[in-house]
Amino acid sequence: MVQHFFYSHEKTLKPWSFFILIPMKITILSGAGMSAESGLSTFRDNGGLWDKYNVYEVATPEAWAKDKALVLDFYNQRRKQLNEVKSNLGHLEIAKWQDLFDVQIITQNIDDLHERAGSENVLHLHGELKKSRSTGPGQEVYPIYGDFLNVEDKCPEGYALRPHVVWFGEEIPAMTEAAQLMADTNVLVVVGTSLNVYPAASLAHITPPCTSVYVIDPKPLEQLPAEAIHIQEKAVSGLQKLTSIFLQTT
Ligand code: APR
Repeated sequence: MVQHFFYSHEKTLKPWSFFILIPMKITILSGAGMSAESGLSTFRDNGGLWDKYNVYEVATPEAWAKDKALVLDFYNQRRKQLNEVKSNLGHLEIAKWQDLFDVQIITQNIDDLHERAGSENVLHLHGELKKSRSTGPGQEVYPIYGDFLNVEDKCPEGYALRPHVVWFGEEIPAMTEAAQLMADTNVLVVVGTSLNVYPAASLAHITPPCTSVYVIDPKPLEQLPAEAIHIQEKAVSGLQKLTSIFLQTT
């Protein structure tokens, strides 16, 4: 009989303590390392995307103003690769949790691998690779079918279409919603992010005081949240290990 893991207000149960068992609310903050085992590059590992591309030439508003074709090609190459890979066992593990617990995913990734694994409640902080956005006043968002968004592609109102991605120097529209989700969690799982990029990384440090924080990353992290339990493994094995921690069987 599988019992849902409940979170106690008390870190350690004391005979006199009155503890309230509350259903576990898990929030996941994922980064590029979550998709590494699907074959997608991270940004800051050796040989990562920022070793191959100059971020200021492909992922800023200034780059878009200067050379739309180069920016579109950067995202077209990543979209083509995304269409050739699939969700990994780590994405599937998290999707399984959604059948057992109240799970919210906040991802810095612009891929759709969480969704393709069956996860719902996915909040994309940095946008979505398979969507375009009108550069007109309405900024309407459209799906991109296939691999390519081209310079000549226009929205119905005739404005150029840009990648629906948050570039360096741009506001993160989903930040307020993400912060509210973090304020309401009692378990945080940080997986596959160097926690180097703000304001996204700040989310790992604003959970309520009694939150249990797990960090899954094969490398040591400088920005480890206080009192975090670091599972120094890759995403797939780390998440599978966490499942056995979360599920108590009797
Ligand atoms: N499993 C888990 N973690 C992994 C794996 C793996 N198989 N492989 C690498 N990692 C870890 C690395 O050790 C590193 O800590 O994933 C992290 C990836 O860090 P970054 O490359 O910095 O990616 P991320 O943190 O997602 O970057 C945040 O920066 O450039 C912007 O918009 C971009 O969303 C991105 C943001």
